[in-house]
Amino acid sequence: MKTLVAPSLLSANFLNLGSDIEMLNKSEADWYHLDIMDGTFVPNISFGIPVVKAISKIAQKPLDVHLMIVHPDRYIDAFKDAGASILSVHIETCQHLHRCLQSIKKAGMKAGIVLNPHTAISSLEDIISDADLVLIMSVNPGFGGQQFIPHSLQKIEILKEMILRKNLSTLIEVDGGIDLNNAPSVVSAGADILVAGSSIFKAENPVEMIHFLKK
Ligand code: DX5
Ligand code: ZN
Repeated sequence: MKTLVAPSLLSANFLNLGSDIEMLNKSEADWYHLDIMDGTFVPNISFGIPVVKAISKIAQKPLDVHLMIVHPDRYIDAFKDAGASILSVHIETCQHLHRCLQSIKKAGMKAGIVLNPHTAISSLEDIISDADLVLIMSVNPGFGGQQFIPHSLQKIEILKEMILRKNLSTLIEVDGGIDLNNAPSVVSAGADILVAGSSIFKAENPVEMIHFLKK
């Protein structure tokens, strides 16, 4: 499979979100990554459902929503109605992860499980077959512009092995600190989807940066 790139809109210009999305519509970006933070699970607050809904009106690519919130199960239908195509929840926030993934799929979205840097891949053993994708956090969630944690590479490799051993088609998404320096090793470790915020939006030419990341 060709590597997908999902720009994280957390690093976009919120005063000109419309023009950033138009730019992404014309780029080779595959999905739009939307980071939802509640100030409780992570020490930051980003944006919520009305903003996702507004983005979905002009976005021409799937909305990949990353929930960094407690009680994600309460908001599944709301994010579906707002236009999400992929909904990912942190394993650390879900008391009943199996039920949560089933509800996401029943609502008509792809279901993802997100792992914080400290959470072992082995915790996925009994649940991975219920997920469409696993999102490995390569920084501690909450902020854009942080440094990639090198140990993430080993986690991606272990996850890839688990997926092959179980004969699954689960996608591997990696989020945090991705740039042109580490993207090749992240992809060769097994990543299918690269999330990138600051490396795209701080680039002089974001469209060109997306092109390079895809290569
Ligand atoms: C962090 C978010 C990321 C973030 C990535 O909590 O989940 O999606 O926006 O930004 P960069 O690419 O700047 O690390
Ligand atoms: Zn994210």
